[in-house]
Amino acid sequence: MQNIVVAMTGASGSIYAVRLLEILLAAGCRVHLTISKSAVLVLDRELGIRVDLKNFKIHQLLPDEGDLASDSALRTLAPDRSSFSDLSSVFAETTAGSLVYHHYEDFGAGIASGSFLTSGMVICPCSMGTLASIAGGHSENLIQRAADVHLKERRKLILVPRETPLSSIQLENMKRLADAGATIMPAMPGFYHTPRSIQDLVDFVVGRICDHLGIAHRLFKRWGEEE
Ligand SMILES: Cc1cc2nc3c(=O)[nH]c(=O)nc-3n(C[C@H](O)[C@H](O)[C@H](O)COP(=O)(O)O)c2cc1C
Repeated sequence: MQNIVVAMTGASGSIYAVRLLEILLAAGCRVHLTISKSAVLVLDRELGIRVDLKNFKIHQLLPDEGDLASDSALRTLAPDRSSFSDLSSVFAETTAGSLVYHHYEDFGAGIASGSFLTSGMVICPCSMGTLASIAGGHSENLIQRAADVHLKERRKLILVPRETPLSSIQLENMKRLADAGATIMPAMPGFYHTPRSIQDLVDFVVGRICDHLGIAHRLFKRWGEEE
């Protein structure tokens, strides 16, 4: 089972992250999820989704998966980490993949260390604030630290920023991260697949993220693909 880290931060576009989680779980991945405080505000504002960061349950984010993930499959992964007792990870199995939630302040989580093996990390959506912190190497929370780890370990780090227009500072931060090995994949859907709905636009962006993670999908018709 592939370990993939997904971090949600406070940029607009939380719908992309929710869809990405659905697709990765359906593909059988083990998703390590972490969510910033600002992402909680955006989730509520844009999707009416209420997430409790200290008492996270999968059904708060994915109601359908919440039905599938039996209560007995929900368990604390790290009960012995007393210093993080109020931040302990939560594990949920779905019919295909599984989700491990980590509080964004839990530096004791496996994903904070290079010795924990993953197939990559996606920050979706990625705020300009988080992007700047990673570009500066600050590692001030688990999201920034895990991103730093992926860069230093030369593993896949996909950033999905959403902002417009962009200042020269923001552009320079993106250039710095791209030079360090990150993939900058702005939430910028194409229109050549003739989208008919918001879902089509969302699936285009999520599909391109999956392409870079090596996850097979049929989220959109590719250019040059037969009808
Ligand atoms: C409703 C809402 C929408 C926002 N949209 C964006 C956005 O599209 N891009 C961005 O960079 N910041 C956006 N912000 C601001 C960030 O949330 C803010 O800079 C925050 O400090 C980022 O923190 P984080 O990176 O830890 O999540 C938005 C904030 C709110 C409340």
